[in-house]
Amino acid sequence: MSILGIDVGGSGIKGAPVDIDSGRLLDDRLRIETPEGGRPDDVAEVIARLAEHFDWQGAIGCALPAVVKHGVTLTAANIHQDWIGRDAGAMIADATQCPVTLINDADGAGLAEMRFGAGRDQPGTVIVLTVGTGIGSAIFVDGRLVPNTEFGHLEIRGKEAEHRASDQVRKAKDLSWSRWGERFSEVLQRLEALFWPDLFIIGGGVSKKHDRWAEHVSVDTRVVPAGLLNEAGIVGAAMAARR
Ligand code: BGC
Repeated sequence: MSILGIDVGGSGIKGAPVDIDSGRLLDDRLRIETPEGGRPDDVAEVIARLAEHFDWQGAIGCALPAVVKHGVTLTAANIHQDWIGRDAGAMIADATQCPVTLINDADGAGLAEMRFGAGRDQPGTVIVLTVGTGIGSAIFVDGRLVPNTEFGHLEIRGKEAEHRASDQVRKAKDLSWSRWGERFSEVLQRLEALFWPDLFIIGGGVSKKHDRWAEHVSVDTRVVPAGLLNEAGIVGAAMAARR
């Protein structure tokens, strides 16, 4: 079954048709810059352009960096405030003339990782963190997602975790991998003390640099990089449209 997966990020909006039974992209993915400010209507217009590019008329799954309930976006930490309370599902369906399902971006990436990536066949409690502009989270218990966790906003040393240990902060503050690793370890240690997971899967921008930070991250729980790297958001968005 093929579904158009769209991943909305702070800098780019990416999409491709996905075979959700194999997790494979059926065409080259297309990336369009996120419009300045990231306003809902402008983003919906870009999504319509992506659908048009793939000549798409079927179901669309769309991942957004926000809490999503019943198609309504309820938060906006790294996107325009106008997303809060918007019936974004209906708005994007209107712009594309296709049925649309929305999911939080980290929940989407988590679904893809649990089915096709590093979390495949992994029982117990698994926490997936996506480390990029912010820190997104998804938690699975025996493969089942508890949606809309927002662990990136846990307070650590008086600041939100994502304001101390995102990839954006690492670059902006020019932190060494060892300094960033210390900060990120504190996030993992806090989650460990609260949830006692069996595995952490780390996705987002830092996942492909695993060899640089692995030795600097210290926590008892096993930590592995995401298996799908850049494509998890698109694949997971598409998977959400089937669920
Ligand atoms: C948002 C989350 C999102 C994460 C990654 C956070 O700031 O609150 O909803 O999953 O960034 O994009």
